[in-house]
Amino acid sequence: MSLPLLSFHAFANSDTAVDAGAPARSLAAILGLPVTPVALHRFPDGESLVTAQGAGETAILFRSLDNPNAKLVETLLAAAALRKQGVKKLILIAPYLCYLRQDKEFTAGQAVSAEIVGRWLGDAFDAVLTVAPHLHRIDRLDRVVPSRVALALDPGPLMAAALPREPSEKLFVLGPDEESEPLAKSFANALSAEFGVARKIRNGDRDVVVSAALPALAEHRVILIDDMISTGETLAACARQAKAAGALRLEAVTAHVVGPDDPTPLLRAAGIERLFSCDTLPHASNRFETAALIAASLKPLIA
Ligand code: R5P
Repeated sequence: MSLPLLSFHAFANSDTAVDAGAPARSLAAILGLPVTPVALHRFPDGESLVTAQGAGETAILFRSLDNPNAKLVETLLAAAALRKQGVKKLILIAPYLCYLRQDKEFTAGQAVSAEIVGRWLGDAFDAVLTVAPHLHRIDRLDRVVPSRVALALDPGPLMAAALPREPSEKLFVLGPDEESEPLAKSFANALSAEFGVARKIRNGDRDVVVSAALPALAEHRVILIDDMISTGETLAACARQAKAAGALRLEAVTAHVVGPDDPTPLLRAAGIERLFSCDTLPHASNRFETAALIAASLKPLIA
């Protein structure tokens, strides 16, 4: 039986609603494709039953990879099920891509998860597209994800375009660490704003020290920016530095609010008035829609 040329799949289940939710639907709508749900059942013992039907010759699988230990396995199961139906080109859209932080063996015996997980995905998919992946000592996604195509999309310009602005305000963009520099730079350039990058020392999951040599910021709306926020400790520490430099107003933007706990109360307590994030993972702060950004890079791959 011949396959349709193209198919678009997203996980559909109550606890993974985001995958079949607004960002997946927006992307599918831009591409003019229906969303074919991937059915998911989680057994009481923790195993997952994945059913992916209706594959096309080119199949797009949409899944953000927060909660990675469950979602990675399920994504690989779905990839295998689609491939078995005769898919020639399998494309993963993972707006948030997990396991990239560990890109080096800091202590003998540590698994370098960026390389290992990257290889799993590279073996399973012909192309992997993601938004603002956490790349630190590795400068390009294709160095860890060995698919034929591995694209890291920069959301900086779209974040800048959708940021609420006031006339004649002075902006200063501040990233907390060197990993945040590419996004801080692209966001600041799109805003024509000054930017700086602080230094961060991480002593534990919730113990970070941020230091920054900052200009006087008493006339500036300071926008803190990071690729991801998990506990919120990094941006809270960064906020304290900006406050010490006299920041007129403090706000934060990020590509991914990863959780699982909501960092908003901690950020508010640190003086951050508003947080805006991309819709790569669901959060009350979602403001920046990524579907058009993803579609622009995806279209040439499915033409
Ligand atoms: C790591 O360097 C990332 O870019 C983020 O700065 C980090 O993951 C944020 O984590 P948290 O919000 O828990 O400080």
